[in-house]
Amino acid sequence: MDASAPPAAPADKGLVGVVLPTKDEPRWLQDQAVFVKAGWTPLFSQGDSAKEKANVEALISQGIKVLIICPQDATAAAAAAAAAKAAGVKVISYDRLIRDTDAVDYYVTFDSMAVGAAWSEYLIKQAGDTKGNPLYIYTGAATDNNAFIFFEGAWEKIQPKIADGTFVIKNSAEAIALQGKATLTRDEESKIIGQTTTNWDFNTAKSLAEANLTKATTADKGTVYILAPNDGTARAIADAFAADKDVKKYFVTGQDAEKASVQYIIDGKQSMTVFKDVRTLAADAVAAANAFLAGTPPEKTTTYNNGKLDVPAKPSAIVTVTKDNVKAALIDSGYYQAGDFQNLQ
Ligand code: BGC
Repeated sequence: MDASAPPAAPADKGLVGVVLPTKDEPRWLQDQAVFVKAGWTPLFSQGDSAKEKANVEALISQGIKVLIICPQDATAAAAAAAAAKAAGVKVISYDRLIRDTDAVDYYVTFDSMAVGAAWSEYLIKQAGDTKGNPLYIYTGAATDNNAFIFFEGAWEKIQPKIADGTFVIKNSAEAIALQGKATLTRDEESKIIGQTTTNWDFNTAKSLAEANLTKATTADKGTVYILAPNDGTARAIADAFAADKDVKKYFVTGQDAEKASVQYIIDGKQSMTVFKDVRTLAADAVAAANAFLAGTPPEKTTTYNNGKLDVPAKPSAIVTVTKDNVKAALIDSGYYQAGDFQNLQ
């Protein structure tokens, strides 16, 4: 990625620490690239909340005043946030919200409701006036608050189209049991996520898709519609559906505009992705850090409840990317280079 406009750094970079969840997903390498360009070296938790807490403690002992942290596990990270707060450090929850603690001062995020809505809108558009279309639902990790928000945004749009017979859910008895409800409680969302989770893991996504396909009848296949929660899992799920001889055509969603998925979109193997420009997110995080260092509250446009508190936040816009606008959205914006891809029109 060419992060041509790195976020402005605070006067003393040593006052701000950055902790990201894992190097094993290209999404977080995008964020890393932007921070590195601005002069930071983010620490990675590698999917381990204990390592995350150790990283935070190391930064506290180095004397940071602001912590920018994307939690590995929303609830487990509360302890790390509390340690930071106790040391007088301001805590900025980055992309994912830390839950069930009052030790979060600010939340920089994308509009995750809009991400889920974009998936459903895309699938609804493809289905047009047709009815009885098989729908397969996949979700993120139950430990990630975003997984709930993405699903909430998706459900809000697609539920009326399940109710009117456009789509027929094929892979979740819990979702089928709740399909008459326009709005779900968090507990109800938990039930559906419990049955459809990929845990943000490619192998889990692949195995679940294969298990779903093994159980499905030929009539449940043909042209299928798939809500997939991010690019890594979308590619794994798409590969599983593509390998099934009774699946004639599939539409599959995603998010993050990972390079591999952009290539899949160009090649017709993934239908869409949601571009979340991490240059904006990192810039917002740095602006918030600078505001805290200057002793003023960062810009707030809304709040997100984390189970304990309404956390001030400034969500940024997302962009739906299909084959039709790959170039305009991702190349012309300077996010990627044309040479990163093959057969780009
Ligand atoms: C992020 C996504 C990412 C997913 C898995 C979510 O919290 O918002 O961009 O794909 O985690 O890492």
